[in-house]
Amino acid sequence: MVTAVPRKPKTFHIVTYGCQMNDNDSEIMAGILQARGMTPVRDETDADLVIVNTCVVREGAEERAVGRLASMAAAKRQRPEMIIAVAGCMAQKDGERILERLPMADLVVGTRDLFKIGALVDTVATTGERIVSIQDVDKPVFLDAHPVQRKSGLKALVTVMYGCNNFCSFCIVPKTRGREVSRPLREVVGEVRQLADQGYREVMLLGQNVNSYRHGGADFADLLAAVNEVPGIERIRFITSHPKDCSDRLISAMRSLEKVCENIHLPVQAGSNRVLRRMKRFYTREHYLDLLARLREQVPGVTVTTDIIVGFPDETDADFEETYSLVETARWDSAFMFMYSPRAGTKAAEWIDSIPLELKKHRLQRCIGRQEQISGEINAGYVGQTMEVLVESTSRRSDQELMGRTRGDKCVIFPGPASLVGSLVQVRVTASHPHTLFGQLAVPVAVAAA
Ligand code: SAH
Ligand code: SF4
Ligand code: F3S
Repeated sequence: MVTAVPRKPKTFHIVTYGCQMNDNDSEIMAGILQARGMTPVRDETDADLVIVNTCVVREGAEERAVGRLASMAAAKRQRPEMIIAVAGCMAQKDGERILERLPMADLVVGTRDLFKIGALVDTVATTGERIVSIQDVDKPVFLDAHPVQRKSGLKALVTVMYGCNNFCSFCIVPKTRGREVSRPLREVVGEVRQLADQGYREVMLLGQNVNSYRHGGADFADLLAAVNEVPGIERIRFITSHPKDCSDRLISAMRSLEKVCENIHLPVQAGSNRVLRRMKRFYTREHYLDLLARLREQVPGVTVTTDIIVGFPDETDADFEETYSLVETARWDSAFMFMYSPRAGTKAAEWIDSIPLELKKHRLQRCIGRQEQISGEINAGYVGQTMEVLVESTSRRSDQELMGRTRGDKCVIFPGPASLVGSLVQVRVTASHPHTLFGQLAVPVAVAAA
């Protein structure tokens, strides 16, 4: 497919798949493009430039991005001057091959080249050439501050470290994101200060392995302490923490720093030590449960969520039962559960994907079902309590209702005026569901809004 040239693109639209790192990368690309005078548009068919920021963590994620790109081919036939860019983890993984596989793509931008998006788009627009810009992810990068165009005006994503050194045997992320690089502490704090000045109340510190943050002499607990000092920020969250890097220093930071929310996402992946070893997770079930007990003891009210993979190569019935029993024992607040999906280039992909799809599905359903019950029981325990809620928006169902989150990241729906969006309010929980709490404002609106 040929891009008609030359024409300087004026509008853009970004479609994002995958994790919060990708969300933040899209915000960074949007910031760079807007700083160059381009305008975001809601509808991709109106855009001069469409960027699809891709995820390849499981086959399904990859298929969704490819499907979306394929559907854009029609829009491009109508408007041949439209530029289509493929960014993110698929771009990094497949590079040149994307141009062969996806004839509608004009530009392929790797995860470490997203900062060049503006210049790359200009080159495509002026030459009409198809370009691939990918760097070796294993090379250390120099990280610079860039303009960021955030989606939310309330909760800001702030990437504090890139990449992952863990090479869990099932996971493609170290291949698509490269080795760990942490941003200097001062730079992160500087960004958070600016965010506070712009009115943000909450920051979410991001890294594939965020609690292994290290820059100079500072570790992640030091970073939390420094961000905690920024006036105007009310809540600090972070994701994702690896159990092996969950130090006592981190636990005491969560306990003592008043802005750090009592919530942690702590992926366990499996309950069988044999499987954990083959996954290269570097902890045992016992170590994980001990960590959970210490967290719950030392951080009152902490909520803990997890990720689980079922159907890992050679997962026996006995292995699976250990994962199932861990769901019962750990009693996470919620869990993201996945069927194992082989990813070429990972260690586990060299092993036979031995568990039939039907068995994977069955195991997944059992774990999901049990977790739903547990999430329901835990949430029912909040009924009658009054909780601090940061109001994020009106609810999806009605503009008479608000949606907010507790410090433990529970979603709460309650009646109230849109004017409260952005405020911290007290809500008395009156009913619950496995994924949501429902309640009433505990103080009259006039007082709450004051
Ligand atoms: N950095 C995070 C999460 C990375 S990916 C961590 O260390 O846990 C998010 C989740 O996707 C993982 O926690 C894992 O549960 C799941 N995942 C990763 N690779 C997968 C694969 N090949 N098949 C199925 N699920 C996978
Ligand atoms: Fe993937 Fe493991 Fe790194 Fe998480 S810690 S990104 S699961 S390799
Ligand atoms: Fe997906 Fe890449 Fe994130 S593979 S989960 S978008 S790091």
